[in-house]
Amino acid sequence: MVDHFYDLMDGDPAYARLRAIHAADLSPMRDSLAGFLNGWMGGPRDWFGSGKCVMSAHSPFQIDGELRDQWLSAMRQAMDRVAMDDDLRQTLDEGFARVAAAMVRA
Ligand code: HEM
Repeated sequence: MVDHFYDLMDGDPAYARLRAIHAADLSPMRDSLAGFLNGWMGGPRDWFGSGKCVMSAHSPFQIDGELRDQWLSAMRQAMDRVAMDDDLRQTLDEGFARVAAAMVRA
């Protein structure tokens, strides 16, 4: 899912603004977002032991409603590309929307 998410962000012009605020090399973020989601979804919590904070990681960025919507839309498309139970998809979608809304600062 994370790989689809970054592939979409990297290749679809609809996500150009979101792509532009990410580093040229997305490989570290592929690992980091996957690690975060593992713990966030109830799996191994190694990412949370790394001293990183997901909200602080976003504080350098002026995130507005458009960037939030691009992120959520790319993630919804990524979820559509993997076989996923409907209930899980809805639970994740609600969780993503909640976290993303808290990151909007502009
Ligand atoms: C609201 C819209 C969002 C925007 C605009 C955004 C943007 C970004 C950017 C620019 C980075 C750093 C990329 C880089 O250095 O190349 C990042 C990292 C990250 N984002 Fe987001 N993000 C958003 C929402 C979310 C949400 C909802 C989650 C979790 C559910 C999330 C999880 C992460 C994680 C785990 C990292 C890696 C942090 C690190 O390793 O330092 N992001 N995001």
